[in-house]
Amino acid sequence: MDRRAALHTLLCGTCALATLGAGCGGEWREAVVLDAPDAGAPDEACSGAPTPGTPEEGWVEVRLADHPALREPGGQAEVRIPQALLDVVLVHTAPGCYAALWRICTHGDCAVGWLPADGVLECPCHGSRFGQDGRVLTGPATRPLATFPAVRAGDSVFIHRPR
Ligand code: FES
Repeated sequence: MDRRAALHTLLCGTCALATLGAGCGGEWREAVVLDAPDAGAPDEACSGAPTPGTPEEGWVEVRLADHPALREPGGQAEVRIPQALLDVVLVHTAPGCYAALWRICTHGDCAVGWLPADGVLECPCHGSRFGQDGRVLTGPATRPLATFPAVRAGDSVFIHRPR
């Protein structure tokens, strides 16, 4: 299965679970893992932030008006845009700096959540924890979450999600 097909399958499966309200309590399924992250650490992504490009170049606009929690450092939002094959947790990590991390745990088919008090993402199924750069802090997951460049421009954050 190529990467695009794998992502489509993953998104459809996630959507189906959400629709059914199945959560994580049912059968455990191994995760489809995206390829290597290309965003770098959040501080690197912020200080050396690229200029957002066009949708044709893979830049996806997330309007802060739709996710007002993202205006303040420490804010986060789950951003799901199926037509862009995007399903991430977007975190305002420091003033003007954002991190976009794939939302599905690399251990299984569960959605991770942001823990603001600890500044990490945690999977509710088996407790794996991930840093803001996607690295595994606590298993059983062994593979990092994919990350994507995220850049503030005007009243939007643009996420680079090449397809
Ligand atoms: S699915 Fe097992 S830790 Fe996330």
